Amino acid sequence: MVHAIITGTGSALPPRRVANDELATRLDTSNAWIRERTGIAARRIADPGTTTGDLATEAAARALEAAGLEASAIDLVVLATATPDRTFPATAARVQARLGITRGPAFDIAAVCSGFVYALTVADSLLRSGQGSRALVIGAETFSRLLDWDDRATAVLFGDGAGAVVLEARETPAGASPRGILAARLHADGRHEELLYVDGGPGSTGTVGKLRMAGREVFRHAVHNLAGVVDELLAATGLPIAAIDWVIPHQANLRIIEATARKLGLPMTRVVVTVDEHANTSAASVPLALDAAVRDGRIRPGDLCLLEAMGGGFTWGALLLRM
Ligand code: ACO
Repeated sequence: MVHAIITGTGSALPPRRVANDELATRLDTSNAWIRERTGIAARRIADPGTTTGDLATEAAARALEAAGLEASAIDLVVLATATPDRTFPATAARVQARLGITRGPAFDIAAVCSGFVYALTVADSLLRSGQGSRALVIGAETFSRLLDWDDRATAVLFGDGAGAVVLEARETPAGASPRGILAARLHADGRHEELLYVDGGPGSTGTVGKLRMAGREVFRHAVHNLAGVVDELLAATGLPIAAIDWVIPHQANLRIIEATARKLGLPMTRVVVTVDEHANTSAASVPLALDAAVRDGRIRPGDLCLLEAMGGGFTWGALLLRM
């Protein structure tokens, strides 16, 4: 049987770090409020000339280096973003070209904060169906461009960045315990659009929009949906929560991460948290956190990892993989 294995991770963050105190100089907010309600201390904000594609290319190059592969070995590029460089072509195609890859499919996935879990699931399916042997899967965003900088309830929550993985198809010998992506579950429920959306944007409306959110309602749905999809995934695989070595959650808010962990009976010592320094980077948050924990040695080969995310749409999903 073929499984898709992560053989390299990489990430990229803009150099400009914006601490809560800096935001408090131009918004009616405070470091104490932001820390207590969200766990966020700072976020990285891209310079005006830096695009999602720039961050994605940098993260992808690092993932390739970690995997020990040349870009020419890549058969497929899947990029999750809600902030593409242009309406078209897909940012994945721009990244592909900049890395010097000239073959294989390249496309974007729009599932907002769940985008990376969606993208990994799609890439896994394509590799296992024989559409190639090696994929680059990227989550990249410049969410700062979508923010209404006069709205304190949303402007303090988000940041920019990118994370990437190299996914390689490998044959698992009969009887051997598989590595790689073991199972995934994805969901969407479009009825809740008014709770989290951008009020315009490129394409059919011909306008440029800003992010709008009913934070308290989103919070409630997030904990319910995330705990539900993790339960569903564990039931499908027959694994107990105690078997999970690391949870790499979407980094929206420390309180959502803690409430979900509590609901699942999971100690926070097994949860990777980067929201304090990255804030919510939407599709980039899970691969950024994964790369951080791989590079600092917490996540090791053989560890069982659970990725989970929820975002605008609503979309949500969870994925189980053995590193
Ligand atoms: N600084 C100071 N006060 C603020 C700020 C701020 N930055 N933002 C809001 N407030 C005020 C509100 O105006 C309100 O004041 P009022 O009582 O005088 O009306 C008060 O704080 C409480 O506001 P609430 O929105 O009820 O605060 P809550 O405790 O729900 O926290 C938050 C708000 C942090 C947005 C929370 O609801 C949340 O995290 N929701 C999840 C949203 C999220 O993470 N979305 C990301 C995308 S979806 C996802 O990734 C899962």
